[in-house]
Amino acid sequence: MPLSPEASSSVRKRGDRGGDLVVAVFGHQRDGHARALIKRLEELGARASFVSLSASMFSTLHPRGVALAGFGSRLPDGVIVRAIAAGSFEAVTRRLGILHALREQGVLVWNDARAIERCVDKSMTSFLVARAGLPTPDTWAVEGHAEALRIARRETIRGPLVLKPLFGSQGRGLRLIRSASDLPEESAVASVFYLQRFLGGAGPEHSDFRVFVSRGRIVAAMRRRAAHWVTNVKQGGRPEKVNLDQSLARLAIRSAAAVEADFAGVDILLGSDERPYVLEVNSMPAWRGLQSVASVDIAAAVAADFLDRLREGILARRIG
Ligand SMILES: Nc1ncnc2c1ncn2[C@@H]1O[C@H](COP(=O)(O)OP(=O)(O)O)[C@@H](O)[C@H]1O
Ligand SMILES: [Mg+2]
Repeated sequence: MPLSPEASSSVRKRGDRGGDLVVAVFGHQRDGHARALIKRLEELGARASFVSLSASMFSTLHPRGVALAGFGSRLPDGVIVRAIAAGSFEAVTRRLGILHALREQGVLVWNDARAIERCVDKSMTSFLVARAGLPTPDTWAVEGHAEALRIARRETIRGPLVLKPLFGSQGRGLRLIRSASDLPEESAVASVFYLQRFLGGAGPEHSDFRVFVSRGRIVAAMRRRAAHWVTNVKQGGRPEKVNLDQSLARLAIRSAAAVEADFAGVDILLGSDERPYVLEVNSMPAWRGLQSVASVDIAAAVAADFLDRLREGILARRIG
């Protein structure tokens, strides 16, 4: 089977450990998370290589209809999606299409395109988490300034709202809406206003939880403390080791299940009523901050769960 240069070198390094699974990580060699995944996959006996999603292509002439650089006429047994790089609406749609196509061709995709779509679009995550009966702050997602204005006028009487970019991540672009006049112009939010009840305290310190779930169990968790109400590690939040209580653990696991994510980073905030609320579910979570306080190797846990699932699928197909 033709493999990329990185893949063939990994096969040589692997020696004769009997691994028969060929897997790809959609991500970049520069990304420590992707490198850690490759390393752990190889240690567990798989042949693992980096693959660029943007360089993968649809081709009706290809025997499988979709071609991954370095894989020739074949496809890997499974892929882990570490990240989908920013791009135009068309480019990202095409990359998600590649992930959909891989699933159609029997390749195990973690996370699957459907889970990624559900999590990248914060309005869909809110819908699914609420539909699953899980606590989440009251949320509205509307198009157009006029509709956002109506909601902000009505809801800010009871307290502030948070405006989030629909496709936002790492705490970028969040705004506190204390009154309707704080709403930005339509052009600043691509006409989509995702508004959520602000459940943060008055400060001076703020905190929330990040819980990493894989295959329906907790891998690691942290409390993030920050001087600002946006607690993302990328925005200066400080990770702190935490012993997760059962109710938070269950909530995180049920949240990942609500969006059908194989692995996920779930953000949970304790409201002033001391109850936990799900803020969002990340289908392509970074874990550098979390790893700094975690006692388990997160990449190793994801790699092991993924390979177990892959082997189970192959076994089931053989038996079936
Ligand atoms: N409804 C809310 N009430 C209070 N704080 C919030 C709320 N939503 C988000 N935050 C704060 O902002 C951070 C980022 O929000 P989040 O929804 O997780 O988006 P992102 O994808 O940017 O991480 C959260 O970790 C939390 O600290
Ligand atoms: Mg978040």
